[in-house]
Amino acid sequence: MTTQMTTDGQVRADADFFQVVKERRSVRVYDPNWTIPEDELRDILQTAILAPSSSNLQPWRFLVIRDAELKRKLLPIANNQQQVVDASAVIAVLGDLKSYEKAESIYASAVAAGYMSEEVKSDFVKRTVQIYGSLPEPVAKSIVQVDGGLVSMQLMLAAKAKGYDTVPMGGYNKEKFVEAFGVPDRYVPVMLIALGKAAKEGHPTTRLPLDEVVFWDSMEQR
Ligand SMILES: Cc1cc2nc3c(=O)[nH]c(=O)nc-3n(C[C@H](O)[C@H](O)[C@H](O)COP(=O)(O)O)c2cc1C
Repeated sequence: MTTQMTTDGQVRADADFFQVVKERRSVRVYDPNWTIPEDELRDILQTAILAPSSSNLQPWRFLVIRDAELKRKLLPIANNQQQVVDASAVIAVLGDLKSYEKAESIYASAVAAGYMSEEVKSDFVKRTVQIYGSLPEPVAKSIVQVDGGLVSMQLMLAAKAKGYDTVPMGGYNKEKFVEAFGVPDRYVPVMLIALGKAAKEGHPTTRLPLDEVVFWDSMEQR
């Protein structure tokens, strides 16, 4: 186990994965005076984008809202949820409906890294652009929502592992958000994630018993 110095000067052991997962809670009260340095935000985002995605198209895009005035503008759009202004940042996770436009550069980098041959890449890119470029909009939207959910979860765990807290938010007016922040049509909102230094722990929650949510081999009525 390695140790590291956090921004508040505390040395802590690199968090164990299972501990991070168990300790993550939705935190809704943040220290309004805490600023997460940009390099730490970048570390968190860099870890988040290791998430898997459909055909590795990585359709996630992030609008990182740090500016106090912009957070105040977001407040009424997000049902006046106070965490929007008090958290260090609110990350709007967006899904790019035209993520296939980056297929060429994604697969070219796989070739450059020696993971794929040029021939396989060319074939892959051609098919990917063809398929994703002609998907009906509801299908394309559903794909970016799934991929956006995966990256969001990974972002929240990465933040927790670095000693920060988060709350995912679906409680905001997506139309007003898109309008207020000038989000172009090709990007669909997935969720907002408030990220900051907790001023009050999140309240504990429970989960359904495992046996109520898991079906082994068959979904026939139990
Ligand atoms: C897609 C999604 C949207 C959510 N929207 C909100 C929200 O708008 N405001 C809020 O306070 N919590 C929101 N939550 C947090 C949930 O209430 C929380 O995850 C759940 O109660 C379980 O608690 P935990 O995250 O502490 O484990 C949302 C969670 C998800 C996954």
